[in-house]
Amino acid sequence: MKNEYLQSVLIESSQIDECVREMGRTIASDYGDEPLTVIGCLKGSFIFMADLVRAIPRTLHIDFIEVSSYGDFTESTGNVRIVKDFKHPVKDSHVLIVEDIVDTGLTFDFLFDHIRLKQPASLEIAALLVRKSVDRKKRPIKYAGFEIGEEFVVGYGLDAAGLYRNLNHIAAYSPT
Ligand code: IMP
Repeated sequence: MKNEYLQSVLIESSQIDECVREMGRTIASDYGDEPLTVIGCLKGSFIFMADLVRAIPRTLHIDFIEVSSYGDFTESTGNVRIVKDFKHPVKDSHVLIVEDIVDTGLTFDFLFDHIRLKQPASLEIAALLVRKSVDRKKRPIKYAGFEIGEEFVVGYGLDAAGLYRNLNHIAAYSPT
């Protein structure tokens, strides 16, 4: 794999594993036996989603939504649009969104507005990464893995121009 732009390992795969296991246990205990639908936000969450749902020891519905706000570059276009919507009816079911990273929070806002219209019993989010700059009073993130700074990161599902999603760890990436 071409990797000359990859820099330091920011989060080791063992740290991710431990965090995801713990998050799964907490989610299972928080929702008890209530109906739960977990909606993964593609593409960046696909590995986190796969690991997280297997760490939640209970029955649940799984669906995916794909949204796009980044072109092929490392700057958000500021414009979120649905590429593929989720299908499972969520009225009266608890819904947990799974996101790779909450960066500007635009996707967070978009997903909450979009899914709320379907009248779920409750709506929360699990994000592997959250930027320190995110105002968490305005955008409450119930399940947050790691707080990171402003560096662009790749790995464990996150990409730079479509590459590096298959790394087991999170690495800083700089194209310069
Ligand atoms: P937001 O809408 O700005 O919060 O960002 C939403 C999406 O941007 C995330 O779900 C990621 O797919 C992508 N993104 C933001 N920061 C990074 C990064 O550092 N690396 C890779 N993708 C990122």
